Amino acid sequence: MTMIGIDKMSFFAPHQYIDMVALAKARHEEPDKYLIGIGQTQQTVVPATQDIVTMAANAADPMLTVEERADITTVIVATESGIDNSKSAAVYVQRLLGLNKFARTIEMKQACFAGTYGLMQARDYVATHPGEKVLVIASDIARYGLHTGGEVTQGAGAVAMLVTENPRILTLNTDNQFMSEDIMDFWRPVYATEALVDGKYSADVYREFFQTLWARYQTQTERTIADFKAFAFHLPFTKMGLKALRDILPEANEAQQEALLAEFEASRVFNKRIGNLYTGSLYLSLYSLLENSTTLQAGDRIGLFSYGSGAEGEFYSATLQPDFKTGLIKNHMSTLLDQREELSIATYEDVFMSGLQGAEDRELDISQDPAKFVLAGLRGQQRQYLAH
Ligand code: HMG
Repeated sequence: MTMIGIDKMSFFAPHQYIDMVALAKARHEEPDKYLIGIGQTQQTVVPATQDIVTMAANAADPMLTVEERADITTVIVATESGIDNSKSAAVYVQRLLGLNKFARTIEMKQACFAGTYGLMQARDYVATHPGEKVLVIASDIARYGLHTGGEVTQGAGAVAMLVTENPRILTLNTDNQFMSEDIMDFWRPVYATEALVDGKYSADVYREFFQTLWARYQTQTERTIADFKAFAFHLPFTKMGLKALRDILPEANEAQQEALLAEFEASRVFNKRIGNLYTGSLYLSLYSLLENSTTLQAGDRIGLFSYGSGAEGEFYSATLQPDFKTGLIKNHMSTLLDQREELSIATYEDVFMSGLQGAEDRELDISQDPAKFVLAGLRGQQRQYLAH
């Protein structure tokens, strides 16, 4: 049987962040509430010169060879913070990355779930079109607003994944269990720039969906927790994944409980420092697990839980391939994280309110943004994207 899955992965987040202890102090909260209770240490801040298009292009660019740019026949951008109600972000990304013109380009939305759908579409497309390559990018900006309960769970970034036959990183197994239910735990009407959320309810539904799908997965596949070496979760804040994992841990023996908790720590290293990136969050956690785990090996089965408010959930497994670490760019994450600049809370508040809004022409100062792809302004109601 042909093996299909993720051949390469890359990540991008803008170059600025705030420290969660500083935010806690500014909001008159105990720092440990943010650090331990929520499980976040830093949060990405998005300058006006970045949006989901530039972040998507910046994520994919460093991992693609000239040959791959010519070979990709489908580009899927998953996002819930798109910049246009009509035109797909994937068309801009295709141009910025210099991809093949004879390709399909599409944008997908279902809260934090769309990246998973895109990945499964890519897998199924390659299964029926052997030899083809699909680029899937999950790119989002999580915004709740200053002084809101959700502020500590903001963040942003993009994860790019190349889906091919005989992948380097992992194969996507066809054991997916999924469910949808029309509920109002989190949503963003078309007129709103910030999400509306029923925070506690959303966390409860997340856990219910996970437990339901995990039970269904076990019945359908006859696998148990003993078949898994690690789990990766959608991490709107990293404590959320820990709660979900703890819900099923009693099914494992003591040694495996310890091992799964250690893998979970590896899976949240990067998310703690980035924050929520909505649809890319599960895949940043997978990236974090692959890079930071010292015990995972070829052949190991990983369980992945994807959750998107509104709500849709999916649980599936993936199998690690012999050279899985070679599908990640060496030292990419440490360079990206270490080169970031910390902002004061006052400066973050100014940046937060300064995004590109309104229809008037304007130029943005791109000189302070070190990313390759930037948003340089608006002209004739068209976003001006540049490579610099
Ligand atoms: P809150 O009311 O500020 O926090 O809201 P809290 O009072 O519930 O405290 C949080 C935790 O900190 C608690 O732990 C406290 O005990 C603990 P828990 O009981 O939950 O285990 N705590 C402390 N721990 C240590 N030392 C201390 C201390 N003080 C308190 N001193 C909430 C938190 C997450 C609700 C809020 O930030 C929020 O609304 N966030 C946005 C919604 C969200 O992220 N929901 C997650 C599930 S929905 C989802 O994942 C989808 C999503 O990504 C969107 C999409 O799909 O597009 C959001």
